[in-house]
Amino acid sequence: EFKPQIFSGVQPTGNLHLGNYLGALRKFVALQDQMDCIYCVVDLHSITAQLVHDDLKSQTRSITAAYLASGIDPVKHIVFNQSAVPQHAELAWIFNCVARIGWMNRMTQFKDKAGKDRENASLGLLAYPSLMAADILVYRATHVPVGDDQKQHLELTRDIAMKFNLDFAKKIKEIGKGVDITVGDQPVHAFFPMVEPLIEGPAPRVMSLKDGSKKMSKSDPSDLSRINLTDDADTVARKIRKAKTDPDALPSEVDGLKGRPEADNLVGIFAALSDRTKADVLSEYGGQQFSQFKPALAELAVNVLSPVNAEMRRLIDDPAHIDAVLKDGSERAGAIAEKTMKDVHEIVGL
Ligand code: ADP
Ligand code: NA
Repeated sequence: EFKPQIFSGVQPTGNLHLGNYLGALRKFVALQDQMDCIYCVVDLHSITAQLVHDDLKSQTRSITAAYLASGIDPVKHIVFNQSAVPQHAELAWIFNCVARIGWMNRMTQFKDKAGKDRENASLGLLAYPSLMAADILVYRATHVPVGDDQKQHLELTRDIAMKFNLDFAKKIKEIGKGVDITVGDQPVHAFFPMVEPLIEGPAPRVMSLKDGSKKMSKSDPSDLSRINLTDDADTVARKIRKAKTDPDALPSEVDGLKGRPEADNLVGIFAALSDRTKADVLSEYGGQQFSQFKPALAELAVNVLSPVNAEMRRLIDDPAHIDAVLKDGSERAGAIAEKTMKDVHEIVGL
């Protein structure tokens, strides 16, 4: 068995929104008492879609501030930025040679982000999942808390780990650094673990407040579609008041949310923000109109997000402190990554 280890990351692009908070940050915090955690600001990922940014460093600091403000402990755990540990990029290169082009071409996020002019997307955007696999596996991490949109990338991470383990089976045995695991019914002497995504919960994919068929996203042109972590209380309340809903009352059972994506989304958000299940929320609010439910949701959202927002602002005013956290984290992450890469060199024969 591999030692349980959490790894996850967030890109330093644009404002964090409620989807990032519920799909990632809030889960990161909850996992801290259960396992060792490594949380990264993945700055190398943010140049895949757009190379030139005028404020990458300050964006990195503000994601770090969001991590700390949400309650992540950078002393017990590790918080750092990706580009400070060059082993991520090095392992990604090796994984580029393990992974197949066909695997990358099938990624729905690549298709979405590349758009129609796919030939003109950056090679980095195509290889993005290979870097993501390296981020995780350079720490031989076993569990990755993410939103539902990252599921396909984590399957690819498993494919890369499996191919590496099988291609180098003999060498892994020889250097004595492998771990016996079973994949399906197949016994494998593995150097890299088969990562498990941690996606479950009442809001694995937070949807747009304006269109229940689209995920809440920082690239949505409508600001009313998302709640930003930096929105003040009035803005949060206004966006929830203006959220799209249907004319019916809330059902009293989860089954009654089927075919009602906007209602399902708001109930899921309520449940996730209060650490309850959707069934539990509906046992309280079932039968009520949205005109009653929305103010309760707005109050809850403000109560949860305001302290995070305030602490984020306080931290952003102290960039030296944030930089010190990142430096300490990257030194500790780097020490682990260096050990892994020493073994990888030996396995690959470099
Ligand atoms: P984005 O997807 O907003 O561009 P990232 O790719 O950096 O941001 O994602 C950071 C984390 O937030 C990932 O774990 C991702 O799965 C999660 N996430 C992003 N959007 C949502 C959403 N609408 N619902 C749930 N989780 C989300
Ligand atoms: Na994403």
